[in-house]
Amino acid sequence: MTNDTGHSEAEHDAVTLDNLLRESREFPPSERFASQANATPDLYRVADRDRLAFWADQADRLRWETRWDEVLDWSDAPFARWFVGGRLNVAVNCVDRHVEAGHGDRVAIHWEGEPGDTRTITYADLRAEVSRAANALTELGLRAGDRVAVYLPMIPEAVVALLACARLGLTHSVVFGGFSAEALRARIQDAEAKLVITSDGQYRRGKALPLKSNVDLALRDAPSVRHVLVVNRTGADVEWTADRDLWWHETVDRQSPEHTPEDFDSEHPLFILYTSGTTGKPKGILHTSGGYLTQAAYTHHAVFDLKPETDVYWCAADIGWVTGHSYIVYGPLANGATSVMYEGTPNTPHEGRWWEIVQRYRVSILYTAPTTIRMFMKWGSDIPANYDLSSLRLLGSVGEPINPEAWIWYRQHIGGGATPVVDTWWQTETGAIMISPLPGVTATKPGSAMRTLPGISAEIVDETGEPVGPGGGGYLVLTEPWPAMLRGIWGDDERFRDTYWSRFADRGYYFAGDGAKYDEDGALWLLGRVDDVMNVSGHRISTTEVESALVSHAAVAEAAVVGASDPATGQGIVAFVILRGDATEHAGGDELVAELRQHVATVIGPIAKPRQIMVVPELPKTRSGKIMRRLLRDVAEKRELGDVTTLQDSSVMELISSGLGKPA
Ligand code: WT7
Repeated sequence: MTNDTGHSEAEHDAVTLDNLLRESREFPPSERFASQANATPDLYRVADRDRLAFWADQADRLRWETRWDEVLDWSDAPFARWFVGGRLNVAVNCVDRHVEAGHGDRVAIHWEGEPGDTRTITYADLRAEVSRAANALTELGLRAGDRVAVYLPMIPEAVVALLACARLGLTHSVVFGGFSAEALRARIQDAEAKLVITSDGQYRRGKALPLKSNVDLALRDAPSVRHVLVVNRTGADVEWTADRDLWWHETVDRQSPEHTPEDFDSEHPLFILYTSGTTGKPKGILHTSGGYLTQAAYTHHAVFDLKPETDVYWCAADIGWVTGHSYIVYGPLANGATSVMYEGTPNTPHEGRWWEIVQRYRVSILYTAPTTIRMFMKWGSDIPANYDLSSLRLLGSVGEPINPEAWIWYRQHIGGGATPVVDTWWQTETGAIMISPLPGVTATKPGSAMRTLPGISAEIVDETGEPVGPGGGGYLVLTEPWPAMLRGIWGDDERFRDTYWSRFADRGYYFAGDGAKYDEDGALWLLGRVDDVMNVSGHRISTTEVESALVSHAAVAEAAVVGASDPATGQGIVAFVILRGDATEHAGGDELVAELRQHVATVIGPIAKPRQIMVVPELPKTRSGKIMRRLLRDVAEKRELGDVTTLQDSSVMELISSGLGKPA
């Protein structure tokens, strides 16, 4: 099966892979770092000897009101129960106990707004604010088990809202502020949220953009919602629905700063976070309390080497994604960290904004995504060179495979050529980091996530579930349950089993959806998704979701979407659309294409806007009617076409290539 260039599809992939694997530089930990590191080589041995005893030790990082009877109950697999019978309050663990231990004056959050306003919030401040918010939510009639949707920009109230929910046993569902009203509505409906917490607007690239207006739109059809709590962030005019809408500053500020917490079962639902799967409908990933917090705290301690007394930690993600949940809120606060939180975009008002922040707060640990690193590379290394970045001592990466050049640039130009770089693999579903080097312990190779963390068991297997050896590639699976694992998909047990547990059901493995490879030394390299999920700037977007959005436009008859490799964003969304008969006079029209891109932004959110939309007369399909995305990817990536012999009509590709018109 070869194409015109004599290379098969598999060979093409192998060539790309070879480039990655030809990367042979290796960075052993420095003695200086190793001598002070939280992690020790011993951790691997201890965890290997008795995995459950290891996790029980990690759970002792937390304050439990009632100790557990059993570390893991896996008798109802794949539904896990961790620290069975244990009781705790997640917010008390993240806030109160640090104050009680005498650290009330320690800064929890150095917050910086995009326009330049700042707030400094100590652990004592945080306790008072979370207590006030908890009292307000109680006054609104919310009770443990109720769901609360949070649709906020990166302001301290977002952290406070999450912790207030946790404190009351309310299950939060954060919806990224970049998602559309429709996407918000679908998530509110699915979780039957009773309350939405939002703000009037948000600052983005120097402008105040509306936010609450999306909530108003979403709530036209979301009968479960009783109240909307609105933070005043931009001072913009908002529409107001009496009896439903309440200002945060009027409702929360007048409350008592004292609140007596209850404790909850270790398996009490902490949050739902929606993520894209291979169908059009997002999955509500469910996380619970004790196991989740245990692994978030442990990984934050071991992978980021956090020293709560001296470090200033900055995870530059958004709370709308799981990275924000585990490594802005729960992990760092459980560990008593001092964090930086930044509201805005990296180039507002100038391209040195991040480095100015690092310099100002003397940030020592920085965690971000490869797509951002590549953006900084593009802006030029002279920009960070203008700032004093000498406080940085550890750098982390997450969200997509990091290319070796970006890894090296990050270490060189941000880390002063000296800091460890940890490439951390995990997912919304895993809740916390699973695969990563341990700084001070593991020698790193640029582009490799290296190995599973102590306590975690993963494998790379072939189609039949057989492990591949060193040098082999295949599917990444997790072979043992882990404390922060998802407990299910909200309201859809069957989809939970189907999506993650059916592929290797006979072995009981969790199917991650990623391809991976071991090099000859046994180091692990992630190679991207093996399903119809795209990774755009570290965000997961399903091809089907974008296709349904396109087809929901009156002019579109059919759509096929692929992720094409993109030097900046990892993958870019490329759509092929067939127009309806009565719309074909617009064919190839720039105006229609612009409208379609905007339509996708309206339906899903700006992050899902296709990079390119091509109007085509036909789509390539197999005889059974399945769209051959592989061929479309060839077109999108301007490659010679791969094998076309399984096409129902092999002339289709000529039609597509000749009829492309003007790609937008
Ligand atoms: C997918 C999960 C985990 C928080 C951010 C994304 C990809 C994530 C890496 C990495 C290679 C990575 C995978 C994974 N991914 N981290 N270090 N190297 N790929 O969370 O939205 O749930 O996406 O992101 O494909 O399956 P998410």
